[in-house]
Amino acid sequence: MHDTNHSNPWQDAENWLGLPRANGVNQATICLDNHPAEVMQREALRWLGQYGEREHYSFEELSRLSNQFANVLTQLGVQPSDRVFVFLERIPELYVSVFGALKVQAIVGPLFSAFGPEAILDRLADCEASIVITSPALKPRIDAIRDQLPSLKYVLVVNRHAQTRMEQASSALRFDNDLSFEQRMDVASTTFTVPDTAADTKSVIHYTSGTTGKPKGAVHCHGAVVAQSATARVVLDLDRNRDLYWCTADPGWVTGTSYGIFGPWSLGVTQLVYEGGFSAQDWYQILQNEGVTVWYTAPTAIRMLMKAGDKLAKMFNFSTLRHLASVGEPLNPEAIAWGERIFLGKQFHDTWWQTETGAMQIVNRPGLSIKPGAMGKPFPGVEAAILDDRHQPVPPKTEGHLVLKPSAPSFFLEYWRRPDVTASKFKAGWYFTGDRAWQDEEGYFWFVGRDDDVINTAGHLVGPFEVESALIEHPAVAEAAVIGKPNPERLEIVKAFVSLKTGYEASDSLCKDIQQFVRSRLAAHAYPREIDFLPSLPKTRSGKLMRRLLKARELGLPEGDTSTLED
Ligand code: WT7
Repeated sequence: MHDTNHSNPWQDAENWLGLPRANGVNQATICLDNHPAEVMQREALRWLGQYGEREHYSFEELSRLSNQFANVLTQLGVQPSDRVFVFLERIPELYVSVFGALKVQAIVGPLFSAFGPEAILDRLADCEASIVITSPALKPRIDAIRDQLPSLKYVLVVNRHAQTRMEQASSALRFDNDLSFEQRMDVASTTFTVPDTAADTKSVIHYTSGTTGKPKGAVHCHGAVVAQSATARVVLDLDRNRDLYWCTADPGWVTGTSYGIFGPWSLGVTQLVYEGGFSAQDWYQILQNEGVTVWYTAPTAIRMLMKAGDKLAKMFNFSTLRHLASVGEPLNPEAIAWGERIFLGKQFHDTWWQTETGAMQIVNRPGLSIKPGAMGKPFPGVEAAILDDRHQPVPPKTEGHLVLKPSAPSFFLEYWRRPDVTASKFKAGWYFTGDRAWQDEEGYFWFVGRDDDVINTAGHLVGPFEVESALIEHPAVAEAAVIGKPNPERLEIVKAFVSLKTGYEASDSLCKDIQQFVRSRLAAHAYPREIDFLPSLPKTRSGKLMRRLLKARELGLPEGDTSTLED
């Protein structure tokens, strides 16, 4: 079921990007330095701060600023492959930091600003990060874990916004190795020669959750830009002469880097970045007042807009919007129908991919008619299939494992220092996505669910293990098991089953206290929205928590095989 009327799309993208054969491909150079002179003067970033700030940066300005930051990192002794983490709100310095780090060939780890100390510690320690760039508001969360991070050499603090935000900039520099981002930038040269960068040079690391163990760091490479660019051009339909593009994802997640940084800027397209969080009113205002033309968002956000009601939506004029796309969870047919009604007949185009694929794989691209509820068809050059448990292809309309040939240049290289887990994802020449799906006779793929019990809450993957680990650190909690419970708005919510230590009584206030505890440690999206207190939790004889059983009971489903259940 392949499109035959297409030449090699990755080759097309390489040609379009005019990649210099000799010195390879650097994501930062391609996005910021290589555009025609006239495009370099155009607006690259339109930034809307959460306090009403408004800033504009041309490609040339971002190019110079990232050169400066590359020089800052070089002066601090950063070497290729060193891990540099960016823990910032969605402010312009986030983008400058990412690009500066890529120019020196560091591996850059963008961290979502809602992460708490535990989540940050897991990631920085696993990666042995040497530098973190942060803000006065977020820095206390780094300081809290600093003594557990022996590899951390410097913390750079972006103070520029502190005054408007009434933060105490000076008190943010507390330790000897705390440095001011601005002071370092001020004395750094605006020219920098980016070293030759091979396609497989490591670039970005995104942590992704599994059912067991801590989150794993999926390592991406500079060559990914070829796939990110091709899909941004074809699927998001981006054109620099016409579009103002808004990707609502934070760069802490792969959508926010692949399509909130690399794809669009490789094409010279103007991107809008809104620092604030979700608000139906604010989002509608941005779409209307800024004149957004292409919009990439997530089913959860769409469902929340739907919840805010048609009356609010009808107060705005969305006539500039010409293309809508979605990723992260299955896109409900109702959401497509609602979008058509509100956005003047435009349909949301669902796209399926994962952190590991680095770019879209199964897509609804313009020109392909949308079947509401289907994820679309493989992007030209992507080979996808449905296999049974014996790794054999199944006939159409049969559910099975969704697998891919790892052929896109954006495919992750490895999970950081986890060769065993990396290898376990590749079997019989296929990459196993961990999703279950089926294909119809016309080649469209339909999503069924996840193979394991990783929770997808509002488009964010949450591993039960991370949440359980945080829960049992609460003084009252003896044991904890966490499942995803179906939820109409968030797809799933995190639900916890907890048994208490003796001397503690279940109560509403204890429940709230535990929720707050996890929320402040892990992240706002990962705390259990529901907690049930049980005298004890079901476990296998070998001591493994039987989350599957808890889930079956919760949903009133058959309990299945309970032969390994502890007495
Ligand atoms: C998992 C990947 C890369 C996007 C952000 C999430 C689910 C993603 C869809 C879709 C149904 C989807 C899958 C996938 N997912 N897009 N269009 N329809 N499910 O990246 O955190 O690595 O999560 O999200 O289960 O495996 P991620």
